[in-house]
Amino acid sequence: MTTLPDTQPLATQSTPVAPQGVFITFEGIDGAGKSSHIGALADAWRARGHTVTLTREPGGTPLAEKLRTLLLSDAMDPLSEALLMFAARRDHLTQVIEPALARGEVVISDRFTDATFAYQGGGRGFDWQVLQTLENWVQAQPDGGTRQPDLTLWFDLAPAVAAQRLAGARAPDKFESESAAFFSRVAAGYARRCASQPARFARIEADQPRDQVWADVLAAVRNHGCWQASPGQAA
Ligand code: TMP
Repeated sequence: MTTLPDTQPLATQSTPVAPQGVFITFEGIDGAGKSSHIGALADAWRARGHTVTLTREPGGTPLAEKLRTLLLSDAMDPLSEALLMFAARRDHLTQVIEPALARGEVVISDRFTDATFAYQGGGRGFDWQVLQTLENWVQAQPDGGTRQPDLTLWFDLAPAVAAQRLAGARAPDKFESESAAFFSRVAAGYARRCASQPARFARIEADQPRDQVWADVLAAVRNHGCWQASPGQAA
């Protein structure tokens, strides 16, 4: 009598690593409460056996972090601000994001290009069309496409509630010091961007208890098909 092998045939084994990597971004106005969930999501992916690059914008490389320091402190005109955001992004993409995705890793970024549309486009009123041109240049792919996240978790919170959460937390930076009207325009910028690319966005209702927000984050990742099964774990 033959005994059954104790390993599954290859054809029915789950794929351990996403072949082209997975790119997830978190977005929202300052004070929306995304920070703790970013770390938790990275831990959840690691627990499933994946290598995670946890990063942020502006920033993520030595050069981009220098630009971040300028961007978050120095006053400048909206075009300079947009160009520096995209310069930082270009370095971040070429040095960190694209190589990690090519290795099949999970990249989680605290903000990406939607923030430029929301803050520079919505908040500052900078030309949306010019931002789209810059996006296409900076995020150009060899196949002629434009790099976009696989999933963007947009933490949506009323600007007044976000301002209350931020009050007294720490010394505000250049953006956090902006007016309520500015953050209303930023929120509208996020809504506009979400409406233009609804398939990759998940809107997270951020004005809920933390556990419910976390449950919504996990559900969004699952529903977008990002959650590749790791060996021995259910998707
Ligand atoms: P944070 O990392 O603490 O959220 O700070 C980054 C700030 O920079 C935040 O206020 C949003 C702003 N920002 C832009 O204005 N445009 C951008 O493209 C990005 C990535 C961030």
